[in-house]
Amino acid sequence: MTEATPASTSCVLVIVGGSMAAVKAPSVLRRLREQGLGVRAIATRAALAFITELSLSTAADGLVGTDAHWFEARPDALHLTHARVDGVVVVAASAELLAGAAGGHANDLALASLLSVRGPVLWVPAMNEAMWRSPAVQANVERLRSWGHRFLGPEVGAFGTRGEGSGLGRMAEPEDIAARMLTLLRPVKRDLEGMRVVVSAGPTREYLDPVRFISNPSSGKMGFAVAEEARDRGADVTLVTGPVTLGDPPGVTTVRIESALELRDAVVAAAADADIVVMTAAVADYRAAEQASEKQAKIAGDVTIHLTPNPDILAHLGADKGKRVLVGFAMETHAGVERAAAKAARKNADFILLNYPTREGTAFGGDDNQVTLVRPDGRHEDWPRVSKREVARRLLDEAVQAAHARPTV
Ligand code: C5P
Repeated sequence: MTEATPASTSCVLVIVGGSMAAVKAPSVLRRLREQGLGVRAIATRAALAFITELSLSTAADGLVGTDAHWFEARPDALHLTHARVDGVVVVAASAELLAGAAGGHANDLALASLLSVRGPVLWVPAMNEAMWRSPAVQANVERLRSWGHRFLGPEVGAFGTRGEGSGLGRMAEPEDIAARMLTLLRPVKRDLEGMRVVVSAGPTREYLDPVRFISNPSSGKMGFAVAEEARDRGADVTLVTGPVTLGDPPGVTTVRIESALELRDAVVAAAADADIVVMTAAVADYRAAEQASEKQAKIAGDVTIHLTPNPDILAHLGADKGKRVLVGFAMETHAGVERAAAKAARKNADFILLNYPTREGTAFGGDDNQVTLVRPDGRHEDWPRVSKREVARRLLDEAVQAAHARPTV
C-alpha cells in the first residue's frame, strides 16, 4: 500500500501504557521515525514496570517524559510541551489509561498531555480479552470514539512474553501502527466542497406486529464512516440510518428510520439534488405482507408468515440516475464478483463494494473491512483489509473520479 508522506516536520507523541505490549514500543518509535516523522514519547508509571526509559529514549532519539520529570519540571508545564505535536498514538493502551482519558483525568503526564493535544489520537489497546470486552472498557472506548479518537485493534493472536495468552487482546503490529498514523496525519482533502452526499446505513426492521420484527446485525459503522469522511472533505451530507447504537455524527444531517419503506422515502427525498449516493444500508429484502396492529398470540404448531418484497432503493435511484454517482455494497458468500457485477449493472450503479460475511474482523460489526470494488462490466480490484474509514476514503476517491467523468450537460 503506498501512502503519501506528510510534511517531514510532522511530529508524533507516543504514549506508552502499562501493558506487556509496552516492550514493543521502541519498534513503534523506530517505524514512525523511518516514515520521516519526528517522534517523542511519554512512559506512564505502569509502562516503566515493563520497559526502561533508556530503551525508549534511544528509539525516540530524544525527548521522553515520565511522571518523575513532570513533577521535577513544574511549573514548566511539561505536559504542554509534549502536547505540541501533530498527533498522538497511545500504544500498549491499558484499561486504566482508557478510563483516565474517557474521564478527563489529568493526574499524570500522559493524561494531562492527552487533554492538551490537538490533532488525531490513535489508541492501540493491548489487554486481556475479558477486560477489553467488559462494559466499563467498552463504554470508555465509545466515549473516546465519540470525541473523534481512533482505535487500532486489539487483534486476535498469541500474546504475553511466553506466548501464554491467546485470543483477542494482542496489540497491533508496529508497522501497522505507523501506517495508520501516517494516514491520520495526511492533510484532509476538501475535494467534496459544494457537493451533496447521501449515505444510507444500518439495518432495517420489518415489523410483523408491534413487538416482533425481521432484521439483520448491520452495525452501521461502514455508512457512518462514509458520512464522516464526506463531511470532513467538505460535502453537505445526509445520513439516513436504521436502528444502530452509534450517535449522530456532528455536522451531518442524520435521519433515523426503521423500515425499508421509510428508508426509501428518506433516501429518495434526500437524493433529489444529490451528487453522490452511497447505499451501505443492509435493507431487508422482504417485509410482512400484512403488519398486525396487535401483538400476535402464540399458537400451537407451525406458523406461516406471508412476506412481500421490499422496493429496491438503489435500483429505483438507478432507473432515473441523472448525473448522480451511485454506489452500492453487496455481501455474498459465493461467486461474489459475477454476482456483484450483475447487481451493479441491473441497478445502474457506478460500482459496488463487495464483502464477505465470513471474514474475521470485517463486514458486520467489525472496525475493518476487506472489499473488492466491482464495476458493472465485471472489472474489479481487491482492496487490502483496512479500517472502515480508509474504505470510505477510497470509496469517495472513486466516486469523485466518476462524478468528474460525467459529461457536463
Ligand atoms: O441486492 P442486494 O441487497 O445484494 O444489493 C445490495 C445493495 O443494494 C446495497 O447497496 C443495498 O443498500 C441496496 N439495496 C437497496 N434496496 C433493497 C435492497 C438492497 O437499495 N431493497
